[in-house]
Amino acid sequence: MSIGIADVYTSSAQCENDAIALVHRALDLGINFLDTANIYGDSEIKVGKALQRRREGVVLATKFGIVPGSSYQDRAVDGSPENARRCCDVSLQRLGIETIDLYYLHRVDPRVPIEDTVGAMADLVRAGKVRSIGLSEASPATVRRANKVHPITAVQTEYSLFTRDPEDELLPTLRELGTSLVAYSPLGRGFLGARFRSIDELAPNDWRRSNPRFQGEQFQRNLAIADTIAEIAREKGVTPAQLALAWVLAQGKDIVPIPGTSNVNRLEENARSLDPVLTTDDLERLERVAPKGAAVGDRYEPRMMELLNG
Ligand SMILES: NC(=O)c1ccc[n+]([C@@H]2O[C@H](COP(=O)([O-])OP(=O)(O)OC[C@H]3O[C@@H](n4cnc5c(N)ncnc54)[C@H](OP(=O)(O)O)[C@@H]3O)[C@@H](O)[C@H]2O)c1
Repeated sequence: MSIGIADVYTSSAQCENDAIALVHRALDLGINFLDTANIYGDSEIKVGKALQRRREGVVLATKFGIVPGSSYQDRAVDGSPENARRCCDVSLQRLGIETIDLYYLHRVDPRVPIEDTVGAMADLVRAGKVRSIGLSEASPATVRRANKVHPITAVQTEYSLFTRDPEDELLPTLRELGTSLVAYSPLGRGFLGARFRSIDELAPNDWRRSNPRFQGEQFQRNLAIADTIAEIAREKGVTPAQLALAWVLAQGKDIVPIPGTSNVNRLEENARSLDPVLTTDDLERLERVAPKGAAVGDRYEPRMMELLNG
């Protein structure tokens, strides 16, 4: 099992003790795949502290390549070899470890040939600083080019009942190459957990307030889909989040969802998403209520959409 360890929406820092307790509870539950990034506030530092005496058996993933801007929308990308080397050293220091298990390029830099970025990441593997390499939000063509330089262990992209774009081209490419898909935002950024009814329930500094899927009419239409999925969950005697995660898990053993939560109860709930058995009938029902393209609105605001590798 896996979990995203970050406060990706507000960067308003969960207190350190709570974050450490959350990681420890995840490990106690058998969750051994942790996901963070150099730009997730001080998440790397907290995860590092949590793993100080519990590193064994954990697969720790972090990322580099996004350069923070003055605002969330103002971010840039730097996939240069120098930045790969520099960021890796900083992350190792923040995490307090000697080797990162899975090191991702967070966004592909259009100004740097992917061969150069992955070449530098491969050097990090040879130096013992990184065990394996991943890409995030990379196109099938980019993954193929990268994989010729060094095996790409995983590609991380958004995948859920709300975002099924990877099914067309990316997933078949990954399967051909033997690369795993790490499914981020598997709860549709919270929609599929059925916790909020209005955008006003999000914190004032929560960046989802500017996400296209959370705007006006689009929010209402997405909420209606999530409500129908929640109804199916209730009929099956599981929670909406568990059903959404079970759906991702049912798409293949090579797909690993990384739900994010800051709350121990929801962590425990999500850890039980391996329990629901989805029948063919359940999967067909979900296909009818959430077919490809059902969720409306772009995944990011225009400036952030530009950072995706199309
Ligand atoms: N590579 C990338 O570019 C990228 C982009 C985005 C995310 N990620 C990674 O993916 C991870 C997960 O993505 P995400 O956080 O964006 O989206 P997500 O997992 O789809 O949704 C997280 C939201 O769902 C809520 N939630 C979690 N469990 C729940 C439950 N059982 N019931 C109801 N609500 C629940 C969380 O709130 P609470 O915290 O209040 O529980 C949070 O608001 C992140 O932590 C990060 O590691 C990567």
